[in-house]
Amino acid sequence: MITYCDSATATSDAALMNDPLPFDAKADHWANFYRSGNATAPVYPSQFAAFAINELSDIDGIVEFGCGNGRDSHFFASNGVPVLALDAAETAIALCIARNQHRHARYVANRASKARAEVEGFVAGKNRIAVYARFFLHAIDAKEQHAFLAMTRQAIPAGSVLLLEYRTTDDAAGDKVFGHDHYRRYLDHLGVLSAVTAAGFDVRYQIEGRGLAKYGNEDAMVGRCVAVKA
Ligand SMILES: C[S@@+](CC[C@H](N)C(=O)[O-])C[C@H]1O[C@@H](n2cnc3c(N)ncnc32)[C@H](O)[C@@H]1O
Repeated sequence: MITYCDSATATSDAALMNDPLPFDAKADHWANFYRSGNATAPVYPSQFAAFAINELSDIDGIVEFGCGNGRDSHFFASNGVPVLALDAAETAIALCIARNQHRHARYVANRASKARAEVEGFVAGKNRIAVYARFFLHAIDAKEQHAFLAMTRQAIPAGSVLLLEYRTTDDAAGDKVFGHDHYRRYLDHLGVLSAVTAAGFDVRYQIEGRGLAKYGNEDAMVGRCVAVKA
């Protein structure tokens, strides 16, 4: 079982130094989660995807990090947007390919911080893209988050949009539909905004609250951030 309620801020050096769990343990967890087929994981788009598509005028494509079973990538592709969807779990990508074949979507198994070449290949010839990550930031450790933001900043064109949704510190308490065995690094919302700004993005919209990611009896406390590469 992997249960973490690490509320360290995104930029904390201490968090980087005290990263509590090697990446492979988390990777194994997610690989097993998707290997089991997890029929309870929703395949319809998230509330955040419906929000995000309204923010995406004049973009040439979307890169999704931590796409899981591809629920949101499939939604974007179905709406005519070219998608590169990445997840570290090969079993997740296998599910995406089995369920969500779409001419606009490409699914690739890769860890976010290692995906620069993949992202640059997708971005080539595009003027402005969106980077989308839902319930991904809290699923990675602080070191991976730092690498993800830096790599994203370097790989995408100026004016591109970053859209993030993540569980925040006040969400640590309470029951979870998927139990407490997922790795969840409950994030300080202002800390995330600071990290995004420090990485070279202008935060254009942000909110923290409930009612944004309700699932069954669980009404998670989440943060959202829409930022543009300066
Ligand atoms: C909580 S799930 C979110 C799935 C999907 N975005 C959704 O909202 O339904 C987190 C996902 O991030 C993936 N993940 C975890 N660490 C990763 C990393 N370092 N690079 C890429 N994907 C990763 C996991 O395999 C998992 O699919």
